[in-house]
Amino acid sequence: MNSGLTMLLPAAGKATTEAAARCLREGGLVAFPTETVYGLGADAGNAAAIARLYQAKGRPSFNPLIAHVGDPAAARRIADFNKEAMLLAEAFWPGPLTLVLSKAPGCPVADLATAGLDTVAVRVPAHPIAREILRIFDGPVVAPSANLSGHVSPTTAEHVRSDLAGLIDLIVDGGPVEVGVESTIVGCFEAPMLLRPGGLPREAIERVLGRALLQPPPEAEADSGQPLAPGMLASHYAPRTRVRLDANKVEAGEVLLAFGPDRISGTDASCMMNLSERGDLAEAAANLFGYLRALDAKGARAIAVMPVPHRGLGEAINDRLRRAAVRQD
Ligand code: TXA
Ligand code: MG
Repeated sequence: MNSGLTMLLPAAGKATTEAAARCLREGGLVAFPTETVYGLGADAGNAAAIARLYQAKGRPSFNPLIAHVGDPAAARRIADFNKEAMLLAEAFWPGPLTLVLSKAPGCPVADLATAGLDTVAVRVPAHPIAREILRIFDGPVVAPSANLSGHVSPTTAEHVRSDLAGLIDLIVDGGPVEVGVESTIVGCFEAPMLLRPGGLPREAIERVLGRALLQPPPEAEADSGQPLAPGMLASHYAPRTRVRLDANKVEAGEVLLAFGPDRISGTDASCMMNLSERGDLAEAAANLFGYLRALDAKGARAIAVMPVPHRGLGEAINDRLRRAAVRQD
């Protein structure tokens, strides 16, 4: 479909969501907002469209995609839900939670999208534009984050444009997203396992399950061929500039990603962005990727990052920061 032209449409009104659904039906690639980050959608049943999606992102094809659906009933046509998966779907969908489950018999998601695994990742997003596109399209849409593979996830349509203009068909601009980090991924097998911390805090999930989530074994994190959540490759969320964590002062030539009301020595206000002046983790998550992109563009020697507490959304924020600090040479 793509002729090197990417259309950018404001999300106001039905015409845009109808154009998005039509484009998906024709095998096109459509970026749209979800509550977590912008996704790059393709028809989950169209292997050719999915092949183009991997190509546009430059994504290794062993890294499987999340199937987005409009409601839990549609999710049950894709995956087998055990008791714990049912509990979580009921408590948190629509919302920033992805479940990895066994594929249902006759699962309509193309093998290419699940990288040949017999499991599939599903999610019911909460964003009204995503929901409207899914309702009109009336089928599963696979959607990774709408960035070039290895880049920071997009939280505005402009981020999507700067990574993917000319490579995809349509960008639906719904303004900045609300959550700002990707969905939390839970694998529901013998015992539920936290595959990726994200926009839904672990504590909320554990409260509903009445038990602690298992941690993936350490080898699943490494750059091995088939990690449990392959998107968790060590250096996934990397800006070009070096990232220095747990900074308690700013060195010469560095810019600062701050958190909270405290000032640290060496801070020059012109080279500083504060994730949340008042120390609010939800605000920090929403600002994280945009601020990393903005600081990356300053051409500094390094981005110094102040410590962020590990509770609630802090677990996802620290996970993304840790990955951003792994050099991509
Ligand atoms: O918030 C989000 O989840 C966003 C929005 C667009 O929905 N999507 C997103 O997709 O972050 P992506 O492709 O960037 O990350 C999906 C993650 C990857 O780490 C992938 O390896 C993992 O989900 N995943 C997908 N299917 C899997 C499976 N069957 N088993 C284990 N991990 C899986
Ligand atoms: Mg991604």
